[in-house]
Amino acid sequence: MKVLLDRREATAAATDAVVTGVFERGDKETAFPRGLAKEDAAAKGLVRAAWDQREIQGKRREVTVVHRPDRNGRIVIVGLGPRTRYDAEVVRRAAAEAVRALKGKGVRTIAVRLAAFALDPVPSEAAARAVVDGTYLGAYEFRKYRTTSDGPVEEAAIALGEELAREETLLRKAVDDERTVAETVVWTRDLANLPADTASPERLAEEARALGKELGLKVTVFDETKLAEMHCGGILAVGGGSTAHPPRMVVVEYPGGARRGKTIAVVGKGITFDAGGISIKPAAALANMKFDKSGAVAVLGILRAAALLKVPPRVIGVLGCAENVPSGTSYRPGDVVRTFNGKTIEILNTDAEGRVVLADALAYAVAQYRPDEVIDLATLTGAEVVALGDDTAGLVATDDRLANALLAASAATGEPLWRMPLTDYHRELVKSDIGDVRNSTELPVAGLLTAAAFLENFVGGTAWAHLDLAGPAYTTAATRRFQPAYQSAGATAFGVRVITRYLADAVRPN
Ligand code: BES
Ligand code: ZN
Ligand code: ZN
Repeated sequence: MKVLLDRREATAAATDAVVTGVFERGDKETAFPRGLAKEDAAAKGLVRAAWDQREIQGKRREVTVVHRPDRNGRIVIVGLGPRTRYDAEVVRRAAAEAVRALKGKGVRTIAVRLAAFALDPVPSEAAARAVVDGTYLGAYEFRKYRTTSDGPVEEAAIALGEELAREETLLRKAVDDERTVAETVVWTRDLANLPADTASPERLAEEARALGKELGLKVTVFDETKLAEMHCGGILAVGGGSTAHPPRMVVVEYPGGARRGKTIAVVGKGITFDAGGISIKPAAALANMKFDKSGAVAVLGILRAAALLKVPPRVIGVLGCAENVPSGTSYRPGDVVRTFNGKTIEILNTDAEGRVVLADALAYAVAQYRPDEVIDLATLTGAEVVALGDDTAGLVATDDRLANALLAASAATGEPLWRMPLTDYHRELVKSDIGDVRNSTELPVAGLLTAAAFLENFVGGTAWAHLDLAGPAYTTAATRRFQPAYQSAGATAFGVRVITRYLADAVRPN
């Protein structure tokens, strides 16, 4: 997908389709919306005819296609739903609905009339960003293993027209920046969608190295020998079951754009396949476990976007990568492992492996870089999916300012986060009789929060936020139907947009 800015009217550009929007109409509403006048003129009254026939209702997900009698392409009218519930997320979804509906229908280029979406309370800049996201992400499909193509939309022009031409400078910057973000989301999805035979811990390390080379970022890879010297017993225990694909810890450093910026560490769970280990998962639960690396891959995406956008803070990405499979060299229930910060973990369930890997990755990040704050991203618990569904990530934070800033970035980007309460009750549940903490609790309650209580042991006093993305990290054929059109099949790259927004807005140390 190519997204560009065009100063002209959408109807004046020579494209296969012009995309515009319309609010949901009332039962008795007959007056033709003024916002559709230009498209109606281009279609010689046929848009109005569709309106009069009540083919256009303006409901969300509704896409109406009208052909111009002069054969200069189509007019595509996307429903925006109720006027009173309009926001940037509606725009993001509407743009994606349009490119999805036009896929495989001979439409190669579209022009989106931005003025039709830059409506109160959505400022033109936010509308432009939302259109970039929606078109770019809505058109995405994982192409690596397919020899056929549906014929996706290839080029989207964001047309300013007379209403917005004066804002060209501002809008050009917004489109350029958001294109970088959206293109990074696609890059991240491509990596997260790779199956476990290909995306091994070594491969993720190689991807990090290649990225570092391309963007001039320092990349350090710790192999199993080095991890043993560093006393990273957690990641070694989890990764020990795979004789084919040994574990790696990967560090990517972006030096920061501001002179007095903060240091923010971003840590990701990179289980390239989670079979559960000795506590093996049942067959049905194995199907999507290549996506258990989504947190780590999102961290790579975040570093990529941060470097390309030159965000103010210094950002340290740490990826804890391992394959969790059963074998004679696997760690076992009953084992006690010693981690980087010296704390010991009693293993009770080898399928609770993410927290064991993150223990080392978090402890290393805070000890080595003394960040002002640390954010981790992980497909950590099935309990998260039960609690919040497959569109929302669970947020647990020990710092209210950090939590609120992340919630603000979430609102701006449309990646839903919901903060959950971490209390002494959860801390009590993860205490171990034989070691410091246990990786699985006696009571099967509040799994999202007991996992967080466990992780808290490895961040020291650093301001910390934990994002459990088990739900929103990927879609399946079943869940995708209920998701916004910009969530493609498979990996969503959840976290890249919200955390990049947070980093771009973060300026001074507190
Ligand atoms: N990777 C899983 C969590 C997961 C589940 C991610 C579903 C995506 C979709 C994690 O390693 C896991 O297996 N967690 C266990 C923990 C339990 C054994 C304490 C879980 O949630 O059941
Ligand atoms: Zn697991
Ligand atoms: Zn896992």
